[in-house]
Amino acid sequence: MAYHHIPVMLQEVLENLNPQAGEYFVDGTLGGAGYTMAISNLVGNYGRVLSIDLDETAIINASELIEQNKIKNIVLVSDNFRNLEAIIHKNWGVETKLDGVVLDLGLSSVQVDEAERGFSFLKTAPLSLAFNKQERLDAAYLVNNLSDKELLKIINVYGEEKFAYRIVKNIVAARRLKEIETTTELADIISASVPVALRRKKVHPATKTFQALRLAVNQELESLEDVLPQAVKLLKPGGRLAVVSFHSLEDRIVKNFFKDQVKTCVCPPEVMLCNCHHEPGAKIITKKALIPTESEAKANPRSRSAKLRVLEKI
Ligand SMILES: C[S@@+](CC[C@H](N)C(=O)[O-])C[C@H]1O[C@@H](n2cnc3c(N)ncnc32)[C@H](O)[C@@H]1O
Repeated sequence: MAYHHIPVMLQEVLENLNPQAGEYFVDGTLGGAGYTMAISNLVGNYGRVLSIDLDETAIINASELIEQNKIKNIVLVSDNFRNLEAIIHKNWGVETKLDGVVLDLGLSSVQVDEAERGFSFLKTAPLSLAFNKQERLDAAYLVNNLSDKELLKIINVYGEEKFAYRIVKNIVAARRLKEIETTTELADIISASVPVALRRKKVHPATKTFQALRLAVNQELESLEDVLPQAVKLLKPGGRLAVVSFHSLEDRIVKNFFKDQVKTCVCPPEVMLCNCHHEPGAKIITKKALIPTESEAKANPRSRSAKLRVLEKI
């Protein structure tokens, strides 16, 4: 099975994590194993990489790579990265401290390209949008069962979609006649909800709604909020957390979390003079998010919206 995913900002991730022989790393989003393989190579025989993915396809692909290349220092875990602390305790023991954690959020190219996964609205497939194929509360469930208010909230907030109200109105009207079952059925309803001029634009009118439903189906923002404090807790002093995000809401969560970690004062707002003597637990390495170079963005258009932020535990 060929698993095609070009790792995004790999060079920048490696430069910032700086894996050394014998160190312990977590790749929370295995995908095509691009980061995992590179880190495994750098940490060598005495180091370890524990790599997590919700998607069985990613795990199977990486197991094959590991077997073919006789790699001994990678542990694969089929789980949600929001369970990071429990995963580390179970696999490496409760005393374990990490040298680095990396998260490369969102979808791999394989998930987009395999029509039957239902991530693409350009090909007809069951309306799933779930990373984990066993997920029952998939996009079809959401569009056919949520109230119009709930749908509006998802499409408005997660999708930042200007025409959310009209899209929801048309979804609700369509599902009264027949359940919405496929990607293209939903994409057609969305297209019919936006002004004609927008239907001919380069970006498909369904893009934002599909992204919003995907975030909701996989609870992506909630998982990110859950994993960040666990990752920092698990790091050694000097250990680093690197997060690559592709969505403004994800980036905001990362940015705000990093800001909280480096606060020098945690006094309640009503306190006029700081008396908390709080010591920040981390420092921000990337004052401004790093973005792909022009040549990477050109060679791999999917990298274009990537933002990399790095935090170091003190
Ligand atoms: C962008 S890809 C990662 C690509 C990888 N860095 C590489 O070099 O090939 C993101 C992967 O993270 C997985 N994923 C997304 N959210 C997850 C979560 N909460 N827990 C575990 N895996 C997740 C997806 O299934 C997908 O395979």
